[in-house]
Amino acid sequence: MRRPVIAGNWKMYKTQAEARAYFSALVPLVRSCVHCDIIVAPPFTALAVSVEAVKGTPISIAAQDMHGEPEGAFTGEVSAAMLVDAGCRAVIIAHSERRQFFGETDERANKKIKAALAAGFTPILCVGELLAEREGGKMEEVLARQFSGGVAALTGAEFSRIILAYEPVWAIGTGRTATPEMAAEAHRFLRQQAAASFTPERAAGLRILYGGSVKPDNIKGLMAQVEIDGALVGGASLNAEAFASIVNF
Ligand code: 13P
Repeated sequence: MRRPVIAGNWKMYKTQAEARAYFSALVPLVRSCVHCDIIVAPPFTALAVSVEAVKGTPISIAAQDMHGEPEGAFTGEVSAAMLVDAGCRAVIIAHSERRQFFGETDERANKKIKAALAAGFTPILCVGELLAEREGGKMEEVLARQFSGGVAALTGAEFSRIILAYEPVWAIGTGRTATPEMAAEAHRFLRQQAAASFTPERAAGLRILYGGSVKPDNIKGLMAQVEIDGALVGGASLNAEAFASIVNF
């Protein structure tokens, strides 16, 4: 039985004061949650106040990206050890916005994943096809490439510590969700890839989240699919009440 994960990705939203107000509203709504892991990924500047605000609650804090090197002359970057030091328990790697706007590659994502695992926290690897790729019949090819590139050369034990997120790019921020069946089909394909690259047992334990216009009114249908182990929520995670109702699906 895979434990569900509901994760919120704030992207480039919220000041420290807004983060504090958000957690004051969210914590009472999810305090007794035992059915899933809850993760929130604020921007770097709000990590410290967020970590402080979730102490003693079931919520853990993630970063939205990191650098693959332990330290060095990389202006503007943050390392795995720095994020652990800041109290992060997880990190989003290769979000489609990083791939689209900041030149993220599978090779770099792989390096980041290894660094995150070595630092002792959980990487959430994002994969997903563009609309043109889906319409051109290339979805499986793209997912296979992003998956195998991202997890290349991980040991089975390391692989068991990652979370995968399937986020079809055409469904992100568009209000156009993949139907539960479409998402489940992609998740099944990704699990087959995991079984082929590692073992069926490792694949069976892999948690695969769906992301792309997840809202309080579609989470139930998505979670009803056995292949869907949770959600990576963008826009709807910015509102504490909406995010709480997704957590309490
Ligand atoms: P939306 O939920 O706003 O579509 O964003 C999804 C996403 O990119 C989460 O990482």
